[in-house]
Amino acid sequence: MSRSILKLSNVSKSFGGVKVLENVSFDVEQGSRHALIGPNGAGKTTLFNVISGIHEPDKGSVFFEEKDLNGVPSRKRIKEGLSRSFQNIRLMPHLSVLENVMLGQHSRVPFIDMIKPLSLASKSAGKDEAIETLNSFGIDLHRGQTVSSLPYGIRKKIEVVRALMAGPRLLMLDEPAAGLNTVETNTLRDFLNEVSSRGITLLLVDHDMPFVNSLCTQVSVMNFGQLIYDGPISELRNDKKVLEAYLGMDEDTELSNA
Ligand SMILES: Nc1ncnc2c1ncn2[C@@H]1O[C@H](COP(=O)(O)OP(=O)(O)OP(=O)(O)O)[C@@H](O)[C@H]1O
Ligand SMILES: [Mg+2]
Repeated sequence: MSRSILKLSNVSKSFGGVKVLENVSFDVEQGSRHALIGPNGAGKTTLFNVISGIHEPDKGSVFFEEKDLNGVPSRKRIKEGLSRSFQNIRLMPHLSVLENVMLGQHSRVPFIDMIKPLSLASKSAGKDEAIETLNSFGIDLHRGQTVSSLPYGIRKKIEVVRALMAGPRLLMLDEPAAGLNTVETNTLRDFLNEVSSRGITLLLVDHDMPFVNSLCTQVSVMNFGQLIYDGPISELRNDKKVLEAYLGMDEDTELSNA
């Protein structure tokens, strides 16, 4: 049986007395492509924030490679192999693509290299690696351009590359396909398949069910802060609770899209 890279055990979180996560427990298997889905406000981003250490859970535990992350700060979690992208793009708009991507290395490149201007740091292995990664994902030609001048689809890809530069074993992506057109979404899927083929485990949140279906094999579903399904994506459509949670949603997010 395969090993879990991430284990959530009874994770609960409230904001101002409102329960946003309630006893959420599931495992993400090493090397898997695992989706986390659910209607708006279900608690998906909050769960990502708990896993990545932005919020501490009120109750319950997060284990990464069997280590309890309770009290471990975000920065240290990245260093230990757990990296993420954000629902809203968090790139530095005035910096170049290369500079943004190199910022993703800060958890493992000595700090002194990070504060040098790029011209001085040009011999660093970090820069070579960043260029190589951009190249292998087909966006190297944009490396000198300012991020703010680039189309949304490319910026989303850069966010993923930046998260990858931390050298994660688990890459968490919060709505990587949101706002992308069909062509951009297909490119992103190929790109993530490539990431997965390098042995990196993927945990991703997205509302685009055709995208999720074509990439992931396992899925956890949340509704109102609770886990209502956890299993193979192939059996999702037969689950009564899941169908109920999605009833009445608009056609873009409905499971019938899958
Ligand atoms: N820092 C916070 N303070 C107070 N309430 C919060 C905070 N963060 C999230 N919430 C609330 O928690 C609930 C879950 O939000 P969350 O962003 O986790 O949902 P989501 O599943 O990611 O939704 P979406 O699909 O729209 O991104 C919402 O009701 C939200 O308003
Ligand atoms: Mg969210």
